[in-house]
Amino acid sequence: MDLITPLELSSLEPVGQGAQKLVFRHPDDPRVLVKVVNPRFIDRRDRKDRFYQKRRRIGHHRAFAREMTEHLVSRARTPGRLAPCRHMQNILGVVDTDMGAALLVEAVLDEQGNLAPTLRDLVDVGRLGQREERALETFLDWALNSRVLINDLSADNLAWHPDGHFVMIDGLGDRAGIPIRAVSPRLNRLYKRKKIRQLREEIGRKEQPTGIGKAIAVALAIIVALLALLATQMELLLE
Ligand SMILES: Nc1ncnc2c1ncn2[C@@H]1O[C@H](COP(=O)(O)OP(=O)(O)OP(=O)(O)O)[C@@H](O)[C@H]1O
Ligand SMILES: [Mg+2]
Repeated sequence: MDLITPLELSSLEPVGQGAQKLVFRHPDDPRVLVKVVNPRFIDRRDRKDRFYQKRRRIGHHRAFAREMTEHLVSRARTPGRLAPCRHMQNILGVVDTDMGAALLVEAVLDEQGNLAPTLRDLVDVGRLGQREERALETFLDWALNSRVLINDLSADNLAWHPDGHFVMIDGLGDRAGIPIRAVSPRLNRLYKRKKIRQLREEIGRKEQPTGIGKAIAVALAIIVALLALLATQMELLLE
């Protein structure tokens, strides 16, 4: 694979797109995706915010920088490991293309080699079964308890890996001007709790009881069972 010559993407059809990026399959390796900033997003932003754009050092590549930082953070925590955490999209590098700088990432593919469905796709076609729900809880548990920074935990940003786990393919990092969450795990957790609640609302799932919530639910169930037992004993006594 030639890593130096800029990739030609403008003649290709994107395989995915969101509000900010166009996503292409790598012309030489279908396991790799190439993400560029959507030119329409750049136009819109520049018209809206001329003053700000001129003074921003990183410009429209801010989203890439956020993703890269989280990727490097996850690697820094596990030096020597070959790939970052399974719940995060694997980033392979930055390359030049005829549509500007692009992020090279590992594609999450389904068993047929097509782009894996997102959590939103699974919900829309009614494919969020027990296995997927369990995997979602595992993912959310990781998201809450790891030090990772998250800004957009929407259902479009979680891809379903055929091995049975969810991968965050976008939305990592901190959008805040002053990065307080990066230095305060407590605030980070609080913020992520909110994001998790919003995701559950988005896909129409109820909040899972927390540790305390679960304990209360178990205690209530025991009390109800004891009362029922007492009632039957009373009945027997009165007979
Ligand atoms: N690593 C990946 N593996 C599989 N599919 C992917 C991957 N990355 C992106 N996609 C597909 O491309 C779509 C758009 O990608 P991405 O979320 O990075 O773009 P975006 O424009 O930033 O989205 P947003 O609207 O959330 O800002 C995703 O919803 C998904 O369908
Ligand atoms: Mg997205």
